[in-house]
Amino acid sequence: MRMTRRQALKRGLAGVGVIAAGGLVWRAWDNGAFNPGGGPPYELWRDWREARLDGKLAIARAGILAANAHNTQPWSFLIGENAISLHADPVRNLGSFDPFRREMALSLGCAVENMVLAANALGDCTVVLPEPGHPTSGLNREIPVASLLLEAGAGKPDPLFEAIDRRHTNRGPYAGRAVSAEIKDALGALANHADTRLLLFDDDPQRNTLGRLIVSATETIIADPEMAADSARWFRFSRADIDRYRDGITLDATGLPGLVNVAAKLIPEPSPAVADRQWLDGTRDVHVATAPLLGMIAVRGLYDQANAIEAGRLWQRIHLWATVNGLAAHPLNQPVEIVDRARQLGKPPTAAGELATLTGDPAWLPTFVFRLGYAERPARPSPRRAVEDVVTGMKD
Ligand SMILES: Cc1cc2nc3c(=O)[nH]c(=O)nc-3n(C[C@H](O)[C@H](O)[C@H](O)COP(=O)(O)O)c2cc1C
Repeated sequence: MRMTRRQALKRGLAGVGVIAAGGLVWRAWDNGAFNPGGGPPYELWRDWREARLDGKLAIARAGILAANAHNTQPWSFLIGENAISLHADPVRNLGSFDPFRREMALSLGCAVENMVLAANALGDCTVVLPEPGHPTSGLNREIPVASLLLEAGAGKPDPLFEAIDRRHTNRGPYAGRAVSAEIKDALGALANHADTRLLLFDDDPQRNTLGRLIVSATETIIADPEMAADSARWFRFSRADIDRYRDGITLDATGLPGLVNVAAKLIPEPSPAVADRQWLDGTRDVHVATAPLLGMIAVRGLYDQANAIEAGRLWQRIHLWATVNGLAAHPLNQPVEIVDRARQLGKPPTAAGELATLTGDPAWLPTFVFRLGYAERPARPSPRRAVEDVVTGMKD
């Protein structure tokens, strides 16, 4: 059959279209667009139900699934005969974003809380933590941040332990629904350690003030090339990087709706400047604008390991409790990150002064800022490194 030139051109263009569409589908497939939460980097979340009571490794697994700054996973676990200890991995740091490793210590505190919950579900345990007086900047590989001395026991059921695999940071929009007084009271009751204080703001002018500080701190960070670069180092845009590193912040974790998330995986990686701008817009228009409740955890020693670990433990408890009770949670720690940065650069402590107006007591220093509410859509999991990559010593 003979074709006219016009027919040939049409068919040719259709062919190009099919190839282009095929290319897009391939790119989407290759970049994990159709499989968020699939594959080995997400295995620990999927296996949690079966593996959660599986000997001492279960305690390490619980630690790995904890919240942690930028998903740096700054830890390793040493398993002994009747003990398991948690160690910092100082190389996995955020540089100028966390110059005194305060957030690294908070992250380790989150892991401690999950580990204690797991140890108590399996049997019994005594926890040994650092005495006050050790600076967060002194975290090292050798001296454990926490040791859990494991004892035989029947183990106690605990809904917080059961929620470990359902807790994910939710960066999407929250619905308008207010957080009730009963919920705020229950959250307050979680802050029962003498070294930490929980402050919740759902009324103006304080809620507005904290929201404004979160947005202006984000502006300060993206205008600081070193901080912006140290943050960007932990962003994993491609599926290949997620498979390779199994850490960091991913597109799936940014809280985009399903189809937008797929589309974002089809387009080339945004430039750092565009990504920063999107972060700022999201912080202002989604994170702060839709949050019914903002909060802070304060301590007396901002750069004290013992205080930071207790603050991290409290955050993990709050987030697990929120998960059990149908609430979403999201750290928004930019205001404290610029407090650290000003201290590092020897600049006036402007941000610290502004945060102090919210605590009402200069002895208490905010170390963790967050929002809480009812999410419009569920959060997706973040990747984690395998147990074998972070556990040393005897395996059971
Ligand atoms: C100390 C600390 C600081 C954090 N700061 C922020 C933050 O400022 N913005 C944010 O979106 N998430 C923040 N996070 C959340 C982590 O990025 C998140 O826990 C990590 O990516 C792992 O994801 P997951 O919590 O869903 O398991 C922080 C978490 C911790 C423990």
